[in-house]
Amino acid sequence: MDHFNYRDDLLHAESVPLTEIAERFGTPCYIYSRATLERHWHAFDRAFAEHPHLVCFAVKANSNLAVLDTLARLGSGFDIVSVGELERVLAAGGDPSRVVFSGVGKRADEMRRALEVGIRCFNLESEAELDRLDQVAGELGVIAPVSLRVNPDVDARTHPYISTGLRENKFGIDIRAAEAVYRDAAARPNLRVTGIDCHIGSQLTDLAPFIDALDRVLALADRLAEAGIAIEHLDLGGGLGIRYRDELPPDPAAYAAAIRHRLAGKPYEILIEPGRAIAGNAGVLLTRVEYLKPTEARHFAIVDGAMNDLLRPALYQAEQEIVPVRLDPTLETQRYDLVGPVCETGDFLGKSRQLAIRPDDLLAVRGSGAYGFTMSSNYNSRPRAAEVMVEGDQAHLVRERESVESLFAGERRLP
Ligand code: LLP
Repeated sequence: MDHFNYRDDLLHAESVPLTEIAERFGTPCYIYSRATLERHWHAFDRAFAEHPHLVCFAVKANSNLAVLDTLARLGSGFDIVSVGELERVLAAGGDPSRVVFSGVGKRADEMRRALEVGIRCFNLESEAELDRLDQVAGELGVIAPVSLRVNPDVDARTHPYISTGLRENKFGIDIRAAEAVYRDAAARPNLRVTGIDCHIGSQLTDLAPFIDALDRVLALADRLAEAGIAIEHLDLGGGLGIRYRDELPPDPAAYAAAIRHRLAGKPYEILIEPGRAIAGNAGVLLTRVEYLKPTEARHFAIVDGAMNDLLRPALYQAEQEIVPVRLDPTLETQRYDLVGPVCETGDFLGKSRQLAIRPDDLLAVRGSGAYGFTMSSNYNSRPRAAEVMVEGDQAHLVRERESVESLFAGERRLP
């Protein structure tokens, strides 16, 4: 459930009409609802309340400082994949001792910075990474807390680009080989083994793959215990899906219940790394219709938001709901392809959508709070959109729209 609702035929973010945001901040514009973010975070936190746990928001889903600040104030942990994300968490007031560092290619300088600020855990994905972290920690004279990200070889049954738990994916350490790597890690002077980590994919709408992976991880934890390697926490990654159109994903309570059931009597603290399920439906992309262009083959609505603003439709053929900001029952509906100004046929926000719209109307692309702004680019030299956070009847500009000058401010002509 989110806080984007119609009042008198006008779409609001909490108590602010989206027309007002368009007037004040222009379009295209990302709009987030603080109450929705908080609601979703609490849904996870409460669902695990009976069990020691930490909800680590996956920063890659939405790294705006105001979003991170909102979650940090709730006591959230964070899952990061770069030093850039780490610095954002720190700048937003996040607690470094609640940060886990994921990703297959951590550089030495990134490890150093994470050790300096004292993060909770490194999720390591290869033996080569073990070597590097052991060395960096040794140079700093500290002990690095580590989990190994294991690849459990389960099929997440999601889009192939966001499926990560199969043996042929680049992620993690084959779970069948993990025991040997754990022995190696445990023997390193500058590493301390604390957990097992696993993330099998994103936008999962079924619990079975999560449970399958958890069972494999629990079996590994048992084998490690026999080998004298005590595991303190299990990090189950992110991946819980959301409703974009007609999906019916389990809610955090059902997800947590299935996990807790398997954990009865086990001592492990649970870490989870949800991104999309917290931020996805807490944001919309607001865009304006520039032109209607009927052709023989299709009706196009050309809008001012494009694939550089919201890449998901172009990259994954993702279908996100697109709704008019003002409902006008007197207008006739038509089937439109909603396309942006970028020079690519793949530049669309939605296809074959039945809508009643005119030029200059505002549209909201729902479900844009996760992997929206963070995947945006300057392609076609388009300044990135503004970001606005709504709380109650207040709308705060939390990232300025980029200026055209800023696009090439760091560039130089030849001497
Ligand atoms: N933890 C790790 C290690 C991850 O790689 C990811 C996402 C997450 C947590 C958070 O997953 P979530 O709860 O958000 O599903 N750009 C794609 C999604 C890529 C996900 C990458 N990893 C999209 O727009 O659908």
